[in-house]
Amino acid sequence: MDIAEFARRIPKAELHLHLEGTLEPELKLALAHRNNIPLTETTAEEVRDTYTFTDLSSFLAVYYPSMEVLQTEDDFFDLAMAYLNRASAQGVRHVEMFFDPQSHTSRGVQFSTVIRGYRRALITARRSFAIQGELIMCFLRDMDPSFAMATLMEALPHRDWIIGVGLDSDERGNPPAKFAAVMARARAEGFLVTVHCDIDQQDSAEHIRQAIHELQVDRIDHGTNIVEDRRLLREAKSRGLGLTVCPLSNGFVSDAMKTDEIMQLFDAGLLVSINSDDPAYFGGYIGDNYAALAKAADLTREQLTRFARNSFESSWLSPRIRDHFL
Ligand code: HPA
Ligand code: ZN
Repeated sequence: MDIAEFARRIPKAELHLHLEGTLEPELKLALAHRNNIPLTETTAEEVRDTYTFTDLSSFLAVYYPSMEVLQTEDDFFDLAMAYLNRASAQGVRHVEMFFDPQSHTSRGVQFSTVIRGYRRALITARRSFAIQGELIMCFLRDMDPSFAMATLMEALPHRDWIIGVGLDSDERGNPPAKFAAVMARARAEGFLVTVHCDIDQQDSAEHIRQAIHELQVDRIDHGTNIVEDRRLLREAKSRGLGLTVCPLSNGFVSDAMKTDEIMQLFDAGLLVSINSDDPAYFGGYIGDNYAALAKAADLTREQLTRFARNSFESSWLSPRIRDHFL
């Protein structure tokens, strides 16, 4: 078995995956057809041609309008099932999946429609594909914190189906501290907390500092710019904070895969895991991300095994179940 095949097959957990970022062109067309939604594109190739961007905001400008085709509980179910099927084929045994309820409720789709579809997929996939998972509800940081708070309240009747909360979308001018009150309330309600500190954003290191010190996060999504601040790096290590990095995504939102930074953090002993972020948009699922980093950094099987182990160690599985995977 060559190293790329080993990278794809090794049992792993995925901790940074946006369900809405798994909308493949073929499914987008099928859902548009099913829901009578007119699209300008008529073939998967044409849809794929629209999936082009140079940074985070140009990605988000394609990502949000695409979601219009998601309308019914079955649509959310089908989206999640397609992802879970592919993830399981690339070695994923446990997944903690982000979803963006505000991007649906703001266009008239009920919160319960979204979460019921996703939840049903998780239950079905556990039986069909031997993969298990949890949901993490993300707040959109480019919308008002009062909308995030209202969304948190809306989620409370479904709290048993949501393991934690996250913060995503456009980071410019939207630092973690802006959401400190919402995150404190989420924590008081029993949710774990993670925050996107995307690659090479304005004030990246300061955003990481706020996430750790002011939001008391349990994990950081991306967070690669922590290499710029030795003190923060040491602190993240001593707190055992996981960093969920996404090599292929990095190449789209910044100018490179950030191989050197990822390996510096990995070699320093931080709990760095490899993930796919928005695989339908960024050219690969999680195994492809393992394989891409393996090629770029000339990784050994031992190093890949360590990355996979980090993914379970920094997951939110209960210690008893986590030990079963380690
Ligand atoms: N960054 C910020 N927001 C997002 C992303 C991302 O990579 N994917 C989906 N929403
Ligand atoms: Zn992300």
